[in-house]
Amino acid sequence: MEQKMTQDEMKIEVAKAALKYVIPETIIGVGTGSTANFFIDELATIKERIEGAVASSVATANRLEDHGITVFDLNDVEEISVYIDGADESDKQLNLIKGGGGALTREKIVAAVSSQFVCIADESKLVSVLGDFPLPVEVIPMSTNYAKRQIVKMTGGSAILREGFTTDNGNLILDIHDLKIEDPKRLENQLNNIVGVVTNGLFAGRGADILLLGTANGVQTITPLIEN
Ligand code: 5RP
Repeated sequence: MEQKMTQDEMKIEVAKAALKYVIPETIIGVGTGSTANFFIDELATIKERIEGAVASSVATANRLEDHGITVFDLNDVEEISVYIDGADESDKQLNLIKGGGGALTREKIVAAVSSQFVCIADESKLVSVLGDFPLPVEVIPMSTNYAKRQIVKMTGGSAILREGFTTDNGNLILDIHDLKIEDPKRLENQLNNIVGVVTNGLFAGRGADILLLGTANGVQTITPLIEN
């Protein structure tokens, strides 16, 4: 009997497929999470071909360094050829929810600097409407309760403090539950306008350029669906 592929096996397949997008002799951006970790392990096999990497979290920097990959501070780098990272959800336009691992702000910064963003994910992450996965919002600690009230008023969802978690930037995360995000760009901008919000986990203004989706039938390459 044929064995079903596990979620981890799909993540490994997309991590391998992403190597094709690594541009030799450049600095690449590397994301955070279990799929990104599989990618780092694959990247180690071709590490002599790249100049190095910019990491989107302390955990990623540590894993890259453990593999002997040079990690650059973003302030010392002008160009990142490609950013490779996972996601918690993607729609067909390649708008993403990210930040399940709490690294959303650094991920957004590295994605903004990168010429191309290749998202790697297993098939469970592709959805028709974003919002089943709670949307993370990074907040400056003193603004937590104010931001929470504003988020509830603005979205109608419930904002729940991620207990016992501090970001690499020393901030807190509010996870917004019960959303159905019809206009991701608009919500991304509105949430970012709340005083005390550092950023939120919607990657719509700068979504992915390519989604490598791990499925039971192999890796699918998806580009943003243009709607008329
Ligand atoms: C971390 C992220 C991750 O990319 C996202 O949570 C997906 O993680 P995983 O690859 O473990 O499913 O945004 O902040």
